[in-house]
Amino acid sequence: MNSPVEESVNPNGSTTGLGHVVGDSVDVSHGPILYLDDITVSFDGFKALNRLTITVDAGELRCVIGPNGAGKTTMMDVITGKTRPDEGTAFFGQTIDLTRLTEPQIAHAGIGRKFQKPTVFENHTVFENLELAMKADKRVFASIRARRTAEEIDSIVETMETIDLLPQADLAAGLLSHGQKQWLEIGMLLMQEPQLLLLDEPVAGMTDEETAKTAQLFKSLAGKRSIVVVEHDMEFISEIAATVTVLHEGAVLAEGSMDVVQSDERVIEVYLGR
Ligand SMILES: Nc1ncnc2c1ncn2[C@@H]1O[C@H](COP(=O)(O)OP(=O)(O)O)[C@@H](O)[C@H]1O
Ligand SMILES: [Mg+2]
Repeated sequence: MNSPVEESVNPNGSTTGLGHVVGDSVDVSHGPILYLDDITVSFDGFKALNRLTITVDAGELRCVIGPNGAGKTTMMDVITGKTRPDEGTAFFGQTIDLTRLTEPQIAHAGIGRKFQKPTVFENHTVFENLELAMKADKRVFASIRARRTAEEIDSIVETMETIDLLPQADLAAGLLSHGQKQWLEIGMLLMQEPQLLLLDEPVAGMTDEETAKTAQLFKSLAGKRSIVVVEHDMEFISEIAATVTVLHEGAVLAEGSMDVVQSDERVIEVYLGR
């Protein structure tokens, strides 16, 4: 019997949906892993993004902040192919033109996205959730390699250590706290080895302790992965960020270290308040 995922395998052998990720295919030889230039997105004449230009280097942990409606989520929609820009350039590494790819192709190329609400499989254990995330990648080989390899188990255990859920390996995901579910979902993304991770408000609804642990998690990933985080929690951002980009009315208002951005008059005016 064919599983739904097997049915989604297209003729050239790659999978769609969660996608098979070929992480090392992205060319970052010149530094940037993400390059958006002059991106404009209009909704009925309203410019959600208005000539947005932003560059993220390989291995960077970039924070994006800005008032509601600034265009943060729309920016992520453009990067992941959910929304097509009216104008502008969007490149993943040197060679991959994001404006020419579909959503599954972009996931396949190595961009992983986490939405705000956790979407783990509640009736499956932590281990199984991570295994499923990995298998979504490799199900094309399921018939010839039905059993888990030692290498696969190692990689699941390593991820459980990274997200600090090793003691909960055999616990049903539905029994985890909200914060732990968020970590599990980050772990599920990591199993697919994306080169660029996009996270929209990952600490929303977390306790202070969970937020602090998430900051540690992101810092531990810095350098190994390129990460773009949209967040409102300024304490969290100051904990993790090297460079902060402030969006306002669909464009970059300010960019720099937390100190520089926090003391920028325009940023104080539109976002931080007096
Ligand atoms: N599909 C859409 N149709 C119409 N307007 C939209 C759509 N998506 C976003 N917008 C508008 O674009 C602006 C930017 O939205 P968004 O990117 O969600 O901002 P943020 O994530 O920074 O709060 C908002 O004014 C929003 O109402
Ligand atoms: Mg948003």
